[in-house]
Amino acid sequence: MASDERKDRIARAFSARAGIYDVAADVQWLVASRLAERIEDAGLAGVGRILEIGCGTGFLSARLDDAFPDSELVLTDIAPSMLDRCRTRVGNRPRYLVLDGERPERLSERFDLIVSSLAFQWFVDLRAGLERLSGLLAPGGRMMFATLGRKTFIEWREAHRALGLVCGTPQYPGPDEFPWPAGFGHRVDEELVRQPYGDGHDFVKSLKALGASEPAPGYRPLSPGAFRRLLLSLDSGFTATYHILFGEILA
Ligand SMILES: C[S@@+](CC[C@H](N)C(=O)[O-])C[C@H]1O[C@@H](n2cnc3c(N)ncnc32)[C@H](O)[C@@H]1O
Repeated sequence: MASDERKDRIARAFSARAGIYDVAADVQWLVASRLAERIEDAGLAGVGRILEIGCGTGFLSARLDDAFPDSELVLTDIAPSMLDRCRTRVGNRPRYLVLDGERPERLSERFDLIVSSLAFQWFVDLRAGLERLSGLLAPGGRMMFATLGRKTFIEWREAHRALGLVCGTPQYPGPDEFPWPAGFGHRVDEELVRQPYGDGHDFVKSLKALGASEPAPGYRPLSPGAFRRLLLSLDSGFTATYHILFGEILA
């Protein structure tokens, strides 16, 4: 299926970049830190079992390991090399699993806390994925996550529009249209992080270094000429907005 192929490409791209991810991941580090603060401030001390989806190289995982020394930690990612890096950072206390976070059926236990920083935007079907994950929450459990929102990369989209080009950035939901699972409480906060780059080329390079350059499903890449025109239009500096949604789902 096309969605399985897309997912395989995403997993391979992140695995291939696992060794250099940390150097390019300024925004991801900032967002993981913000989410970690929210989790640490949520009064969850003593929580029993924690699941992380899309742990990557472990920015958030390391904070969880420190903040919840007595909890059982299950750290998961779809990309095996990211998981290896995470183990190098966090050590052998947690359990590590290669897992597609939107197909968590092989997890049989329930979790008091499910967390994820900047992985849900890669789900093929966010609504169905969140429904399945919410079903893994223990009674009274909660999910705390950060994901990308609608205004992400508005400048990049606008640069395409100005030249009459189609942009390959996927569509992300705004807070008002987020696909919350039925039967659970929820809340959401948002933050706009503006990240400066030398120019458009720098921006593209940084997404590639992260392994985060898989375009929206069905997107046909620009011709080399159109891509050059696009980069030329941004060669005097470029700032990209990351629209971060901090969401909670309450069982
Ligand atoms: C932008 S990185 C964020 C990693 C880490 N949470 C951080 O804050 O640095 C996205 C991560 O999500 C993982 N990912 C992508 N799709 C996934 C899926 N369907 N299930 C689980 N992990 C996924 C990628 O392999 C990658 O490690």
